[in-house]
Amino acid sequence: MKERMNMGLQFLLYFLLVSHAIVAEGLAVNWGLKSSHPLPPKIVVNLLRDNGFDKVKLFEAEPGPLRALGKSGIQVMIGIPNDFLASIASSVSAAEQWVMQNVSNYISQYGVDIRYVAVGNEPFLTTYKGMYQQTTFPALQNVQAALIKAGLSRQVKVTVPLNADVYQTATGLPSGGDFRSDIHDAMLSIVSFLQDNAAPLTINIYPFLSLYADPHFPVDYAFFSGTNSPVVDGPISYSNVFEANYDTLVWALEKNGFASMPIIVGEIGWPTDGNSNANIEYARKFNQGLLNRIIQGKGTPKRPSSPDIYLFGLIDEDIKSIQPGDFERHWGLFFYDGTVKYSLSLADGQNIVPAKGVKYLDRQWCVMSPSASATDPNIPGAVNYACTYADCTSLGAGSTCNGLDLRSNYSYAFNQFYQTADQQKAACEFSNLTMITQVDPSQGKCRFEIMIDLSSREVSPPPPRNRVHPNGSGEGFHGVKKMLWRWVLVVFMMLPLFWF
Ligand SMILES: *[C@@H]1O[C@H](CO)[C@@H](O)[C@H](O)[C@H]1NC(C)=O
Ligand SMILES: *[C@@H]1O[C@H](CO)[C@@H](O)[C@H](O)[C@H]1NC(C)=O
Ligand SMILES: *[C@@H]1O[C@H](CO)[C@@H](O)[C@H](O)[C@H]1NC(C)=O
Ligand SMILES: *[C@@H]1O[C@H](CO)[C@@H](O)[C@H](O)[C@H]1NC(C)=O
Repeated sequence: MKERMNMGLQFLLYFLLVSHAIVAEGLAVNWGLKSSHPLPPKIVVNLLRDNGFDKVKLFEAEPGPLRALGKSGIQVMIGIPNDFLASIASSVSAAEQWVMQNVSNYISQYGVDIRYVAVGNEPFLTTYKGMYQQTTFPALQNVQAALIKAGLSRQVKVTVPLNADVYQTATGLPSGGDFRSDIHDAMLSIVSFLQDNAAPLTINIYPFLSLYADPHFPVDYAFFSGTNSPVVDGPISYSNVFEANYDTLVWALEKNGFASMPIIVGEIGWPTDGNSNANIEYARKFNQGLLNRIIQGKGTPKRPSSPDIYLFGLIDEDIKSIQPGDFERHWGLFFYDGTVKYSLSLADGQNIVPAKGVKYLDRQWCVMSPSASATDPNIPGAVNYACTYADCTSLGAGSTCNGLDLRSNYSYAFNQFYQTADQQKAACEFSNLTMITQVDPSQGKCRFEIMIDLSSREVSPPPPRNRVHPNGSGEGFHGVKKMLWRWVLVVFMMLPLFWF
């Protein structure tokens, strides 16, 4: 009797502990840096902490962000870009160098809490046509060997972030899941290696892309609030594509003998511009639904425990490739300047808060001058030029600035260029077509931006303790180099202006 009570008590305690551990779980996010004007890393780290993010994924070992993450209490996953796979695959010493410079160094010198190294980024995407197929697994092995040699293999785990197209289902149901036939063997080698090293598999899942790729995709199936057309798989009824997709992977793993392989969702999110389905309303609906699941620790029918889920992404990236679509530059929970796009309830019911301490350039914009004619023959060339060097993706079909009249459309392009060029006077001198104004030209949802001011960060002296090292690896050196580089870029951007 007493024993039974004890057992009951133990169970209750265990339950409380486990459920508490799940509820207290923080949030994870991808911090991408493909921006012409990335927010200062210290501001971003505060933004992460203010919003309860305690895990972050970087696509590269970027020195600024890594240093800022030191002693922040935030756990870090560092990516190795695909371009590096060949060299790391071909030589253990290249892997050792990478680990020394990009992992050991940041742990020991800066106190960065590095937990994962992500080897490659979606290396098996079909669009790469097998380019990284031979190098991904050997690179993974070499990085693991290097981590062991550095004495870090217990603390830092390897993983490979894969696109969800590495698995598929012949039946259209999750239970039909298996790895794609052209990479089946490669996947088994990788998964088996990860299992032997107590490391997780990382998968990126994008319901938005399902909708983008197929106009007949049922919209409500992309979200988390139920659907009229559930996918019925034996006893399980799937009401959202995320669960069905994730469980397709679980089935694929199970079928190949890896039923308990831990999974991380490496990227998932919804963009807010650049496509008719990329808007604030859908993004809020998707991300809030997802966050609620994360906060409740909700898993899927096949895997009741919630995986770590890294949202994509933190901040908009205005120089990200738009080859997949204009929406690529608008995945952020925050705009380029760390302002909030839409309200979101995060961990503990706290509402999302913006970045603090962001500095802006002057409150002025570059617009078409009233005296210029909208039919001026120089306009197409000038607009094309502006949009080649600055981000005009908000002007396209289905985007926030698509409804503008022609003159405002041109003004938007000129202003984007002017702001991206740090409001240099010459960047608003399109052969008398343009002028600078202090009147905000924003209309409705279409924001005419003012660029953030990064100059103080670049010209102010670095903190005394981080002065330039004799070997030139200090913060100051990088700062100056970056400033020079930006200046060269601005001059280069402005050269052809004089040809109009
Ligand atoms: C460390 O990572 C950075 C950023 O990806 C890269 O440029 C550098 O070459 C890496 N170091 C080594 C030794 O590979
Ligand atoms: C404005 O410009 C963009 C590209 O520069 C174009 O795609 C869009 O259709 C234009 N919109 C209007 C209303 O002219
Ligand atoms: C620009 O305007 C100024 C003054 O109105 C004029 O002198 C100049 O020739 C114009 N330049 C061009 C390229 O049209
Ligand atoms: C540069 O110098 C610092 C301190 O003098 C040292 O810790 C670091 O390893 C050196 N870096 C390289 C790449 O030689």
